Amino acid sequence: MGSRLRIPILAAAAAAFGLFAVSASAASEPGHGAPGVGDPYHPTYGNGGYDVSHYAVTLRYQPATDALTGATTITAKATQGLSRFDLDFVLGVSRVSVNGRSARFATYGRHKLVITPTLPIAKGERLTVTVAYTGVPSTMHPDGLTSWIRTADGGVAANEPESAWWWFPSNDHPSDKATYDVNIRVPGTDQAISNGVLVSEHTERSWTSYHWRQDKPQATYLATLAVGHFDLTHSRTATGIPVVNAYSPDLDPTTAANARASVERTGEIIDFLSGYFGPYPFDSAGGYVPNVTAGFALETQTRIFYSPKFFAKAPNTSVVAHEVAHQWYGDSVSLDRWSDIWLNEGFAGYAEMLWSEHEGNGTPQEIAQRIYDAYPAGDPFWSVKPGDPGPAREFDDAVYERGEVAVQALRDTMDDTDFLRLLKAWPTRHRYGNGTITEFEALAEQYAGKDLSDFFTTWLYTAAKPAFFPSRQTPG
Ligand code: ARG
Ligand code: ZN
Repeated sequence: MGSRLRIPILAAAAAAFGLFAVSASAASEPGHGAPGVGDPYHPTYGNGGYDVSHYAVTLRYQPATDALTGATTITAKATQGLSRFDLDFVLGVSRVSVNGRSARFATYGRHKLVITPTLPIAKGERLTVTVAYTGVPSTMHPDGLTSWIRTADGGVAANEPESAWWWFPSNDHPSDKATYDVNIRVPGTDQAISNGVLVSEHTERSWTSYHWRQDKPQATYLATLAVGHFDLTHSRTATGIPVVNAYSPDLDPTTAANARASVERTGEIIDFLSGYFGPYPFDSAGGYVPNVTAGFALETQTRIFYSPKFFAKAPNTSVVAHEVAHQWYGDSVSLDRWSDIWLNEGFAGYAEMLWSEHEGNGTPQEIAQRIYDAYPAGDPFWSVKPGDPGPAREFDDAVYERGEVAVQALRDTMDDTDFLRLLKAWPTRHRYGNGTITEFEALAEQYAGKDLSDFFTTWLYTAAKPAFFPSRQTPG
C-alpha cells in the first residue's frame, strides 16, 4: 500500500540530491526495480518497482540458540515492468519463489536481496514472493548494530528506523505500508507477542504457535516480535478496544510495579488523546515491557515496546502518552521520507504536554516556555532544524524538544479552535496512509486561514533560536 503522491515527490527529491547514485553494486537498470525508494536520509532503504499489500511471516524461534527459521510470503503489485527486484534482508536465504516458480537470488550491499524471477513481471501484475530462510539474528551486524535484542529467555525485534530486516524480508521503508499475519512457533511454555490481535494459539508436540494479525496498514519498522515469558493483562478502552499489555516476570519488583502503574493506564490515555486526535485508528492496543537493557521506547503499532528503564525509579505516564500519540501521528499517518520526522516526534511530544496538563503537571504553554528559555540563543540545541535535522540528528533531543515547542508556537500563531481542529484533521485526512511536512503546512494554512510560510521557515527550517516565543508576540 503506497501513497500515489510519493513517487513524483521522492523522484524529484532523489534527482535533486543525486540519490540514485547509490554505492550498491547492483545499480538500477531498465527492468530492475530501484535499490532504494529515494529517501533523502536513507537512500538504500526500501526498493522501487513494486508496492506490498501483505506480509505473511511464518517462523520458528529457538531461544536457547537464537535460531530463527521460516518463510515470509509477500503479496505485492508491480509498479513497473520487472526483470529483477530487491528486498531488504540480512538473514540467510535458502529458497525464493515468485508466483509459484522458484527464482534466482543473490545478496549485495549491507541488506539487499536481489531476486530474478524466471519470467519478467509486467507492470500492474500481482506478485507473490516467498522467501525461506534461517539465521541467528543477534549475530547479524550490517551497520555495526543489530536491532534484534536478546533477553535471558528470548529475543525482541524493535528499532527505528530499521528493525524488519533482522526477522523478515521486506520493502523496508514507511512509504510502503502493508497488513501482516505473523505466525510464530516457540518451544514449550514460551510466549510470542506481535502487533494487532491474537488470532489463535495452539500447542502441538511441545511447540506452541501464536498467530498475530495486523489488519490495518503498518510500516515495516512498526512491526515487532517478542519471544520470552510474559505476564499478560487484558482490559478495554471506553469505546471497547481491547488492550493487551505484557510484562516480563524478570523485572525487579520496583520496576515491575512502576511499569504496571504506567502501562495499565494505556486505555485511559487512548481515551484522553482521542479527544484531541479523533477516534483511535486501530482495533487493538497495548504495550510490552521485556527485560532488556536497551534504553528506548518505540511506537510499534498497537503493541508498544517499552524499555524497563523508563520505570526504574517511578511510574512514567509521559512515555505512555508519547508512544500512544504516535499511534495517530506516525503509525496511522506515516512518514513518506525520514527527513519529515518532526511529524512524528513533534506531535508525540506535544501529546505529552497535553497529558501533563490533564494530570495537573503544567500546561503545554508553560512547558514550551520552559524549554524555550532553557537554551540560550548560542546553544547548539538551536542549530538542529526539526524540519530537516539530517540523518545523524534524526532522533536528536532537539528534534523532540524544539519540535514540540514548534507545535505550541503554531498553536499560539493560530486561533485556538482552528488549531484544535487541525490537530484532528491531519490524522483524519491521512488515516492509514502517509503524509509530508509540506502537506501538513498546506493543511495548517487552510485551517489558520493565512500564510504560514514565515512561521514554518523560522520554526522548522532555520538553524537559530526563533526571536519570539510565544509566537503571538511576533510582529504581524
Ligand atoms: N520513535 C521512538 C520514540 O520516540 C524513538 C526511537 C529511537 N530509536 C532508538 N533506537 N533509540 O519513542
Ligand atoms: Zn517518539
